[in-house]
Amino acid sequence: MDNRAIGFFDSGLGGLTCIAPLAKLLPEEKVIYFGDTARTPYGSKAPATIKSFSMQIADFLVSNDVKMLVIACNTISATCLDDLRERYPDIPIIGIITPAAERVARVTSMGNHIGIIGTKVTIASGAYEKALHELNPDLSISSVACPAFVPLIEEGIINSDIMDLTIRYYMEDFVLENRIDTMVLGCTHYPLIKSSIERIFPDIKIVNPSEEIVFAIRDELFKRDMQAQGSTLTNTFYASDLSENFIRMIESITSGSDVEVKFKNLELPESSKK
Ligand code: DGL
Repeated sequence: MDNRAIGFFDSGLGGLTCIAPLAKLLPEEKVIYFGDTARTPYGSKAPATIKSFSMQIADFLVSNDVKMLVIACNTISATCLDDLRERYPDIPIIGIITPAAERVARVTSMGNHIGIIGTKVTIASGAYEKALHELNPDLSISSVACPAFVPLIEEGIINSDIMDLTIRYYMEDFVLENRIDTMVLGCTHYPLIKSSIERIFPDIKIVNPSEEIVFAIRDELFKRDMQAQGSTLTNTFYASDLSENFIRMIESITSGSDVEVKFKNLELPESSKK
């Protein structure tokens, strides 16, 4: 048993899409979440920048005595999962791409056409292709970056004509040309537009990594005998910029009870300011 909180982090509010599935599967667990809303989006930044931001956040969470780090962000998982594991060899660190790939491999076979949508960095990394082909080398996979989704979602432009047009702009030709039948939402912000994607592409099966990562968390906690029981901690949500949208999202996923929302500014190390 271990009643310390689990540390979750993302570039912004996207990682919050993992919190409801966590509360459903593991209701005893408490979280400390960090969303880097002041510096979002990460998905079009240089990998070295993403890595330095991620290390800062991980340091902050570890200094808050979390028992596990969960990278609730595909972009960070694709960029520096191994670096984070090297920095914290004694803390279990869960990335989001492997649990999602395992799900895809379970529900598809050679005849399926899998589409991956994600940020520029995630798509350019080829991390999904690599993880999927390790599980099944015969899978047919295509991917496309959708860089405008995250800024719109962070602005709260979700159920709107602008979002529908943006979905069509990025995905319509992609789906048709590649005959996609299974789509992976390869960015934790995208579950927030899942219902629009389903409405526009009703025949496509959607895989939501934010729902898959919680099974990997459960398995790891179980393996290490680190499950929480009767914890009296409060769920705490930090953001580097407390936007109205972030606060609203937290209220909607937690119904506002047993929750603290806090501002936390992360200063860049001197060496990165020059
Ligand atoms: N939510 C993130 C992801 O899963 C990153 C989005 C961004 O900051 O560009 O990739």
